Amino acid sequence: MFYCPTRIIFADDAIQKAKDKIAVLGKKALLVSGEKSAKQSGALSDLITVLNELEIHYVLFDRIKENPTLDSVMEGKQIFLQNNCDFVIGIGGGSPIDAAKAISLAAANSLNRDEIYNIAAFKNVYPIMAIPLTAGTGSEATQYSVLSDPTHKKKAGLGSDLAFPALAAIDPKYTLTLTPKVTMHTALDALSHLLEGLYSNQRSPLVYPFIYKGIASIMKCLPRALSEPDNLAARKELMQSALYGGIVIAQGSTTLQHSIGYPLTSNYNIPHGLANAMVMEDIMELYYPAVSKELNDLFAYLNLSKDAFYAWLRALPFERKIELSDTFIEEAIPQVMGSRNMALNPLPVSEEHIRIIFEHIRKS
Ligand SMILES: [Fe+2]
Repeated sequence: MFYCPTRIIFADDAIQKAKDKIAVLGKKALLVSGEKSAKQSGALSDLITVLNELEIHYVLFDRIKENPTLDSVMEGKQIFLQNNCDFVIGIGGGSPIDAAKAISLAAANSLNRDEIYNIAAFKNVYPIMAIPLTAGTGSEATQYSVLSDPTHKKKAGLGSDLAFPALAAIDPKYTLTLTPKVTMHTALDALSHLLEGLYSNQRSPLVYPFIYKGIASIMKCLPRALSEPDNLAARKELMQSALYGGIVIAQGSTTLQHSIGYPLTSNYNIPHGLANAMVMEDIMELYYPAVSKELNDLFAYLNLSKDAFYAWLRALPFERKIELSDTFIEEAIPQVMGSRNMALNPLPVSEEHIRIIFEHIRKS
């Protein structure tokens, strides 16, 4: 099975090239972004130019932080409704795009804070456009929105076909301003999505070409983009790989590889992609008996061994260990066990498996 209803424009000057398609989305847009990246990257001014040319009105809601909260979604919903908007444009990394999806659903279905995860209540949606500014989440081509609830220190996702963006304008030049750290963390998130396309028990061979090409590109181009941040060719390949990752998880969802990272992000502010990277090797080892054929076929395509893949991963300069409290581990295990992605693991995962992985990344 393959489903991706998003119209994707991947090009230099993508926003300008998307003009005709933006014109039919609505008459007044809520622009959802963080405080800085939409302005710094130049994407916001490119977008405003096109909206002005089309005589589309807009309201800017630029207060989305990393790991968007339920409260910020509620605030966005109010602004959307008070201003009589009729579509949303998420501009940024995964956070503003995920927030834009949730705002659209909340506004269209009159959802309150407690109903945001209640996908049975989703009947309508206002059109969603996504302009990604990182090469990571692939949220521009998925039906997922991952939100945080700081009061309960919880991070969880929702998935609904209504949340697929109608339109995505992807221009790799916007990623030229990303720091090396963000470049690395987001690329490792994309790598994680691509691997999970092989891990998920809903895996679909239809997307294996995306997975193979995406992983090969990240292995080749991530080190290049880190040493030469201005290398647009490398940035393009990373952006394309992130999009592939989004298309892949839109089919088979994510797994323990993602759910185990959520409490690390909620409790210790570990960036999402870094949390995935810290456990990547452990997860691959855990899953290997169940997906050895899928992984061996991938490694044959890449012309390297599993150990060579681990060596590539270990050469990247990211933190492997963090201080974790006993209380955290005890509280996080049931949270991970109860997360939606756990139904997708390729083999049964126990509390003990999760404990071992947490202990492995724990600073002693
Ligand atoms: Fe992710």
